Amino acid sequence: MKNRFKKIAALGLVAVMTLGLVGCGSKSSSDSDKDKDKSDKAKVGVSMPTKDLQRWNQDGSNIKKQLEKAGYTVDLQYANNDVNTQVSQLENMLSSGCKALVIAAIDGESLGTPLATAKEQDVKVIAYDRLIRNTDAVSYYTSFDNYKVGQAQGTYLKDTLKLDTEKGPFNIELFAGDPGDNNAQLFFNGAMDVLQPYIDKGVLVVQSKQTKFAQVATADWNTEKAQSRMEAIISSDYADKDLDAVMCSNDSTALGVENALASAYKGKYPLITGQDCDIANVKNLVKDKQAMDIFKDTRVLADQAVKMVNAVLKGEEPEVNDTKTYNNGKMVVPSYLCDIVTVSKDNYQKVLIDSGYYKEADLK
Ligand code: GAL
Repeated sequence: MKNRFKKIAALGLVAVMTLGLVGCGSKSSSDSDKDKDKSDKAKVGVSMPTKDLQRWNQDGSNIKKQLEKAGYTVDLQYANNDVNTQVSQLENMLSSGCKALVIAAIDGESLGTPLATAKEQDVKVIAYDRLIRNTDAVSYYTSFDNYKVGQAQGTYLKDTLKLDTEKGPFNIELFAGDPGDNNAQLFFNGAMDVLQPYIDKGVLVVQSKQTKFAQVATADWNTEKAQSRMEAIISSDYADKDLDAVMCSNDSTALGVENALASAYKGKYPLITGQDCDIANVKNLVKDKQAMDIFKDTRVLADQAVKMVNAVLKGEEPEVNDTKTYNNGKMVVPSYLCDIVTVSKDNYQKVLIDSGYYKEADLK
């Protein structure tokens, strides 16, 4: 069913691409003779992974709004979490004359071909939120400190369960993200660097024994997949035991875990971590169904990406604050990392509402 939907979506895409190409045919040849400043009314392609998750809708519309305000034309596309769709959308952006691309990659390893074309055409590429791997065609990367996100989740659990003083043992389960997303491993490593020593000491116990990234990864960060894995774990390991914590790398996986607990679990309610501050999860935070969240202000990230686009199209260098960490296999990509905030029931009002990110009514 999903494949069929993807095929239909792909057909629609071909139609859109054809229209795009027709539009491109009317460009005059003098367009290619631009001097260094390519920013004048340039077209910028913005490629987002999926509309399924709240955050990418916010990211996409924030970037579009800010680029348009700066005078650019924007081609914003969502790729339905399908790598081939993202590749053809990028090819279409290139053939329709985009001068810069802002890309949140579905799979960090799979964009080599369109990015080689981008490089040939001197189109600048900004990796957005997720690092694009194994290519030298990326100019800059902007994201949050992804390792720190995981570390903050692990630290929250360590502090709240008082792992340094309590003997436990506490039962914990782990839910990570999509293996193709470079961030997923970083989040997991950050969390496990905090939690692993307590697993080794026996203070934390993973009853399912699923502790390796490959065992706990969630394809497409999909809520239903997280839910069915949690339901299976509840029925095999927690019919007569309490679960004390679930380390979820983000909110879509946390929501799946929370749904599974609501439908199948009878014991003491565990601490659950998350990331993104999606509305559904903040509502659960208020109802004590999720213990913490990580707030990543997508307005700030979009702003950084727009600054980078502006700079590269004007032949200037944007501000970066990390020139060492993000080696993508071919190059170290100069990066700007934005700050994260740990959110709980105690500070969500200040962080999310007083900052204007959400309105009180959004959370009702
Ligand atoms: C990550 C992103 C997270 C989360 C996840 C699922 O790459 O950094 O914020 O949204 O993807 O889309």
